[in-house]
Amino acid sequence: MKRIPLLILILVPVLAIAQQLQSPNGSFELQFRLDDGIPTYQLNLNEETIVAKSKLGFDLKDMQSLRSGFILKEEGTRSFDETWEPVWGETKTIKNKYNELLVQLEQPTTKRVLNIRFRLFDDGLGFRYEFPEQPNLTHFVIKEEQTEFAMTGDHKTFWIPGDYDTQEYDYTTSKLSEVSSLMQKAVTPNASQTPFSKTGVQTALMMKTDSGTFINIHEAALIAYSCMHLDVNEKNFTLTSHLTPDAVGNKGYMQAPRNTPWRTVIASKNAGDILLSNITLNLNEPTDYQDVSWIRPVKYIGVWWEMITGKSSWAYTDIPSVKLGKTNFSDTKPNGKHAANSQHVKEYIDFAAKHGFDQVLVEGWNEGWEDWFGKSKDYVFDFIAPYPDFDVVELRDYAKSKNVKLMMHHETSGSIRNYERHMDKAYQFMVDNNYNSVKSGYVGDIIPRGEYHYGQWAINHYLYALKKAADYKIMVNAHEAVRPTGLSRTYPNLIGNESARGTEYEAFGGSNPDHTTILPFTRLIGGPMDYTPGIFEPDVSKYNPQNNSWVNTTIARQLALYVTLYSPLQMAADLPETYNKHLDAFQFIKDVALDWEASLVLEAEPGDFVTYARKEKGSNNWFIGRTNDEEPRTSKIAFDFLDDDKKYIATIYSDAKDAHYKKNPKAYDIKKYRVSSSSKLSQYCAPGGGYAISILEVTDSSQLKGLKRL
Ligand code: NOJ
Ligand code: CA
Repeated sequence: MKRIPLLILILVPVLAIAQQLQSPNGSFELQFRLDDGIPTYQLNLNEETIVAKSKLGFDLKDMQSLRSGFILKEEGTRSFDETWEPVWGETKTIKNKYNELLVQLEQPTTKRVLNIRFRLFDDGLGFRYEFPEQPNLTHFVIKEEQTEFAMTGDHKTFWIPGDYDTQEYDYTTSKLSEVSSLMQKAVTPNASQTPFSKTGVQTALMMKTDSGTFINIHEAALIAYSCMHLDVNEKNFTLTSHLTPDAVGNKGYMQAPRNTPWRTVIASKNAGDILLSNITLNLNEPTDYQDVSWIRPVKYIGVWWEMITGKSSWAYTDIPSVKLGKTNFSDTKPNGKHAANSQHVKEYIDFAAKHGFDQVLVEGWNEGWEDWFGKSKDYVFDFIAPYPDFDVVELRDYAKSKNVKLMMHHETSGSIRNYERHMDKAYQFMVDNNYNSVKSGYVGDIIPRGEYHYGQWAINHYLYALKKAADYKIMVNAHEAVRPTGLSRTYPNLIGNESARGTEYEAFGGSNPDHTTILPFTRLIGGPMDYTPGIFEPDVSKYNPQNNSWVNTTIARQLALYVTLYSPLQMAADLPETYNKHLDAFQFIKDVALDWEASLVLEAEPGDFVTYARKEKGSNNWFIGRTNDEEPRTSKIAFDFLDDDKKYIATIYSDAKDAHYKKNPKAYDIKKYRVSSSSKLSQYCAPGGGYAISILEVTDSSQLKGLKRL
């Protein structure tokens, strides 16, 4: 990893009451002030207040709070400037340039020390608390973090409830003042998950002020700490941190020296700047993995959508093993719907090989599903026992012969201790059978009871699983784990997370058509999402007559998602039989890159539309994706990002004139043009639609013959 750090650190004792810091280009200004012993900060962007004076501090369990009575002992500033290369990413290089202010506070009555470190970038602010090693604060328990973000008005907000156990909600768009009343109406996506806490909203929280400024609040480097939600005060529009508790309500077990995660505020007049900000990644540490050659982007298909739609089953038998009186199924008949059988998996491998996919995910390959669905016991999976119709060795060799890898699936059923007990054996089993990536999952209440998906205990587990996977050179895509906070900079084998409402919900009743115009501004601020796009058959009943769900999208929009929802791990989620009916549109999924040299936002308005253009890493090809909400809209873009002296063919996959996400989702047009840096496009997008464009460099001019110029 190439880094060019420039460091100047000055620490001086101070008498002044207010400290000021400017971002490198001067656009942001931070003020830190001890207000009668209470630490506060304020953030401005070009004279506009983004965060009004807000308090900082903690309530501790059975100890005096760290909220007031402070004196400023020392302050220091430094500047930092580096350019680093992510293992995979939206851009080939990332600039990490900021000015930093460190304030060292002392509470004379307790002789305790609390430091706060602010980093001001040209696109926003990051700050964290640091508890240095000290005699009077060793072990302590956080009752609540009391970090405020005082908004200056009743901003438009894109939010989901501050649930401790699921992030799989549709977004609500409302004023800050309406959050608590609308919260009552927010539907719990998984009714079995209890208790449901309606205390605030999740981050990344996206807002827009009346003056048109975009503000985004999230956290970075969530390690050994509880995930933060934000309580909304609908009268004064102050947001206050609300950490995920444990079974007895404690929010964090600490031992100094220890730092909290970073709290981030990204702001701009331009929505695209929010999407392109690298603050979250920059506030994570560089990786110390010596060898990263085994970490690669993955394009995959999977034995998956057929189970999600209910056409097939994960379980081999519907009878729980306790009722069968055995845990070995070798002489048990399959239920006739078990998709993860060798023959069927081979069909997927063939399809993957034919169309150049890297991997095939197979869910439902291992024993335990019958018990889990039968709810007979907490301990269900051991992650090494295949069902009798899934021949591990035969499939390993078959996949190898076709130059395709199988992707492992570990559904933990939320039983974290059980997973940790089996983890070494499970990963070794993968290595032995030629798997190098795992999709893990944490469906249902966390076991042991009382822990939550976003509490400190579970957070520690996700990182433990990730580091252990690295020991075995395994890449991880964790579903239902905590929302990402840029950890992939340090642990680049975290190539995906779900941690939001993905395509699967389209088969559980449907998602709002504007969902994919909001996700880039919220969930994806923290890191890539395994959204699983590529649904070409929106009518779910075609697969399972008992399921009348409808995927709220046009086919053209599904293609766009490969560009608009960035991920180095991309699935083509629909069934091979369906792709075979639309091979012309499927070509885009085959062509689209996974790793990028450069990314641009051409148009963006959260909740309405997003248009990205991205340049493939190591080539001159570009890909464009546009996702629309439920309104018909026309997108207008210029191709001025193309190289002046290169020739390209653009293939435009768009909604047909009469396309509509409900009425006519499969109507698409495919047109080819010769394009250059002076080309312009005005493209109609249907309700719930969008478009995708591949722009492939042409070196042989004869290929351009007969093509119209755009
Ligand atoms: C939920 C995951 O999001 C989904 O992709 C998976 O198929 C099921 N859990 C079963 O593990
Ligand atoms: Ca899920």
